[in-house]
Amino acid sequence: MKTQLLIPAAGMGQRLGAQGPKALTDLCGEPMLVRTLRAFSGLGLLPGAVVTIPGAYASEFRNVLASAFPGTPFSLIDGGAERQDSVENGLHALDADTDIVVIHDAARPFVAVASIHASIDAAIAYGAATVAIPCNDTILEAESDDFLCNTPDRSILWACQTPQTFRVDVIRKAHEIARREEFVSTDDATLVRRVGGAVKLVRGTPLNFKVTAPGDLALARCVIEGGLA
Ligand code: CTP
Ligand code: MG
Repeated sequence: MKTQLLIPAAGMGQRLGAQGPKALTDLCGEPMLVRTLRAFSGLGLLPGAVVTIPGAYASEFRNVLASAFPGTPFSLIDGGAERQDSVENGLHALDADTDIVVIHDAARPFVAVASIHASIDAAIAYGAATVAIPCNDTILEAESDDFLCNTPDRSILWACQTPQTFRVDVIRKAHEIARREEFVSTDDATLVRRVGGAVKLVRGTPLNFKVTAPGDLALARCVIEGGLA
């Protein structure tokens, strides 16, 4: 089974207050994207990886990748307005003979290798899989005026992470239908499920958090300085 990596990295980090692409934010001496990619190097998934980027920053991304991974070929593809548009562009750029695509946010630099393996194995077995963790917090559903309207049963709730891994035909079809029906999601597994596909949940780790707000960036730096990852 030919497996290819797709990294959505085209976001501009509005919630982080980033001055440029979030993926290029410094994490203790190297861009976040470099640390994220390194997690996949032992699996042989770096050569030919597709990375979606903000088109205006192509030369910055090219330089960062060439200096961190000399001689490794990457496919840099312009992202779109939303993450889903970026992933869709990336899916179009996969090699014709790719069977399995591993989609992982540039903004999750501490993914465990075991989670990547588990996600790939589950996608081969079931067609689609996502890494996720059971919710520890009780989740509150609010009305528009910030009053509590519903408290879903925590025992069946999971917090979504990436990698999300798919048979290429499965995720391409799900994206196609989402585009046609103008359905937008912040993840890809949801697109598969809404057209009836099975999606296996694979247990991840709390360290695989997404760097979203300034506090997450501070935490990420502590993780590195503390030698936790
Ligand atoms: N992403 C992307 N294309 C977009 C938006 C997001 O490829 N148009 C990527 C980001 O680079 C990130 C991942 O999708 O790796 C998850 O997105 P998010 O954490 O929301 O990042 P940003 O969109 O950059 O952050 P914000 O929403 O705060 O602006
Ligand atoms: Mg975003």
